[in-house]
Amino acid sequence: MKVMTVFGTRPEGIKMAPIIKTMENTPDIDNTVCITAQHREMLDQVLNLFNIDPDVDLNIFKPGQTLTEITMRALQGLEDVIKKVKPDVLLVQGDTTTVLSGALAAFYQKVKIGHVEAGLRSGNIYSPYPEEANRKLTGILADFHFAPTKMNKNNLLQEGYPEDKIFITGNTVIDALQYAVKKGYNFKIPQLDDMDYENKKVILITAHRRENIGKPMENIFSAVNKIVLKYNDVELVFPIHLNPKVREIAYKEFNGNDRVHIIEPLDYEPFTNLMARSHLVVTDSGGLQEEAPSLGKPVLVVREETERPEGIEAGTAKLVGTDYNNIYNTLDILISDHKEYAKIANAINPYGDGKASERIVDIILKHDTVR
Ligand code: UD1
Ligand code: UDP
Repeated sequence: MKVMTVFGTRPEGIKMAPIIKTMENTPDIDNTVCITAQHREMLDQVLNLFNIDPDVDLNIFKPGQTLTEITMRALQGLEDVIKKVKPDVLLVQGDTTTVLSGALAAFYQKVKIGHVEAGLRSGNIYSPYPEEANRKLTGILADFHFAPTKMNKNNLLQEGYPEDKIFITGNTVIDALQYAVKKGYNFKIPQLDDMDYENKKVILITAHRRENIGKPMENIFSAVNKIVLKYNDVELVFPIHLNPKVREIAYKEFNGNDRVHIIEPLDYEPFTNLMARSHLVVTDSGGLQEEAPSLGKPVLVVREETERPEGIEAGTAKLVGTDYNNIYNTLDILISDHKEYAKIANAINPYGDGKASERIVDIILKHDTVR
């Protein structure tokens, strides 16, 4: 069977990698790895870690690229590749612009589509933007919906998708996490190895969502900064996204605070091991909302809506929005009140058991992929 995997950004790479590795060990599958490289450095980090050498690199990355530019260049590049490779099934993962372009390019060539991480819904087309729309549009084109959780499956059923096309698999991010997090991990980064994780409360923060850029992100950073200033035993580590708009706001809001460590994006291995040693996580990321609960780390989700309510239901994630006071007050309680902290620092894992990739590959092999 000929499979083609298409991805373009850091999180897609992380979550597609375990599937690619599983297919490498499946003699009946011949997989072509095609990257759009919507991200460049941040994707290359992932490819290096998982030892993936793409067969095709469309190299569409341009700094400051607009959604239209990404869509057009990815769609155009993919047409030629799909015509040449003629895959039986094309896999996309998640909700980025690469995902939508990949699904559309496959549909135009009447190639079957497997959508990994299907069925997540926030209910607001503008949040996350443009991801909620990308995911729904990809769903319409897909033949196989690999839903991480039961809730995701129910979302698809409610939208009228046939049950025999929906498969609950778990999220492949847990497969990747189990590969990366190790006891006694040595960062080989002095700043992280020298951190006193026992006596300090290390907060890990990431932020990049388009709808947060501007005032919401200023609120998030200034509330967190105020908390770091209030507690001497708190250190903040911010592996910052390469988006210059995020950097501009961060450098302004955290300026002059020497317990704030703004560092370059970390490779997946050091990043997840840092999360495993942190006190808590503040983020607007999708992937971190899945990883933090699995590692038993409280996670403050600085967004108005989430398409990942499982962590919130389980009690390890709190949806705090982007209001300054709400973020400040919630953090203040979690830092100062041990009982409150203990209540939500539970290792629960609503997102998978580390075998999602095996299930996905199995399903592809067992099903008819001819359109
Ligand atoms: C994209 C996805 C988002 C995903 C996120 C993961 C879309 C619309 N957005 O958002 O769903 O959550 O990736 O991080 O598909 N940049 C670099 N080098 C890189 C990557 C980014 O310099 O390796 C900078 C560039 O200036 C680029 C900007 O970041 O223009 C934004 O990148 P882009 O891919 O447009 O969107 P993200 O915000 O990264
Ligand atoms: N991540 C990483 N290095 C970093 C920050 C994040 O490897 O410096 C990983 C993180 O563990 C998660 C993924 O990148 O698996 C999340 O990516 P991002 O937040 O960019 O995208 P999202 O998940 O919001 O789509």
